[in-house]
Amino acid sequence: MARLLKSPLLSVLLFLLSSTDADINVADFGAKGDGKTDASEAFLAAWAAACSSSKPATIYVPPKKYFLRPVVFRGPCNNSGITFRMDAILVAPDYKEMPSSENWLMFDDVDGVSVLGGYLDGRGSSLWKCKSVSKNCPGAATSLGFYSSKNIAVQKLTSINSKLGHIVVHTCQNVVLQKVLIHAADQSPHTDGIHVQNSINISVFNTGIKTGDDCISIGPGTTNLQVQGVACGPGHGISIGSLAKDLEEEGVQNVVVQRVVFTGTQNGLRIKSWGRPSNGFVRGVVYKHVVMKNVKNPIVIDQNYCPRNENCPYQDSGVQISGISYRDIKGTSATKVAVKFDCSPTAPCKDIGLQDINLTYQSKPAQSSCQNARGVAHGVIVPPSCLIQ
Ligand SMILES: *[C@@H]1O[C@H](CO)[C@@H](O)[C@H](O)[C@H]1NC(C)=O
Ligand SMILES: *[C@@H]1O[C@H](CO)[C@@H](O)[C@H](O)[C@H]1NC(C)=O
Ligand SMILES: *[C@@H]1O[C@H](CO)[C@@H](O)[C@H](O)[C@H]1NC(C)=O
Repeated sequence: MARLLKSPLLSVLLFLLSSTDADINVADFGAKGDGKTDASEAFLAAWAAACSSSKPATIYVPPKKYFLRPVVFRGPCNNSGITFRMDAILVAPDYKEMPSSENWLMFDDVDGVSVLGGYLDGRGSSLWKCKSVSKNCPGAATSLGFYSSKNIAVQKLTSINSKLGHIVVHTCQNVVLQKVLIHAADQSPHTDGIHVQNSINISVFNTGIKTGDDCISIGPGTTNLQVQGVACGPGHGISIGSLAKDLEEEGVQNVVVQRVVFTGTQNGLRIKSWGRPSNGFVRGVVYKHVVMKNVKNPIVIDQNYCPRNENCPYQDSGVQISGISYRDIKGTSATKVAVKFDCSPTAPCKDIGLQDINLTYQSKPAQSSCQNARGVAHGVIVPPSCLIQ
């Protein structure tokens, strides 16, 4: 403490800290904050203290750089109000030193956790380099995962250079992610920004995502997802899918995506399923007030996804897609075909609604293409609709 007080900036910060309600400080548990010394045991000890408390607790992480190995913050806890208040940078091990683990930072079976602030440096770039020349690179892990948890809030968090996905929400309910910033190189492999799966009541608000894979990917079993105020790009867009990976699969329903700007992305609004039998479905999706800036596939439903033609050639997707509405979608396409509905012959898409669409390619109307797609169009529709009634 005395040594820290030598720095005027730190003393101000310490003063601010002492005037807040932070009742647990990772420094008190021996977290070093020199960016090198492993602080994971200290973080886990702070977590254990907060989790065992019968009252809500705040874990404060001061403005330093903490090196963390993979950690799991596990519940259930004795209170449902644990806040991580982070002014810190958390750094992951290099992939060569990364213990095998699906997540770097993981919350499991918790109720009522907020993560406020924080800057996660996944240090993924050496792994991406390895992956570009080898199939056997160890150490890939999601940066931040929430599993089997409820009543979660993440605010003002930044995630850069994840080794795999940035943030995963899996088997959760009532999760709000807002003012999150996500950044990884546009060619970085499998760095999905936010992946949601098997979860209910999930919101993503006012978030900026630049990454190498999907900005947001929406997996099977997602119900009541709200995405509002997102800037995406570079990246692969906002994708529902890939679905039909399994024969028995949960559906995706009640998804609203609004006020999103896509800039230079591979896709905009995409739904994709493998060309394989499945009892999964997509039902009740509203896309509205979306701006496309030079997007390769602004609106796309692809039910014939079959990379490398493995395990699916000549099969039809069983995933039933229905009740998908596109309203007020404007801007520029980087390819001729801006609207593509390539649906399954055995389970054609139905109840697709188009309203006030204006997508241009090289300052001229773009084109649309439909296979097995039924629905109706209202208002200005550029390119003209090819849906059958
Ligand atoms: C909850 O409190 C009880 C009683 O104080 C204690 O025995 C238990 O270990 C606590 N649980 C957790 C998860 O810390
Ligand atoms: C999801 O949200 C709705 C509406 O706010 C609420 O009624 C429902 O209980 C929530 N479901 C779960 C599983 O939390
Ligand atoms: C579509 O957008 C272009 C570019 O902004 C504009 O010039 C054109 O008039 C719009 N078309 C319609 C039918 O609104």
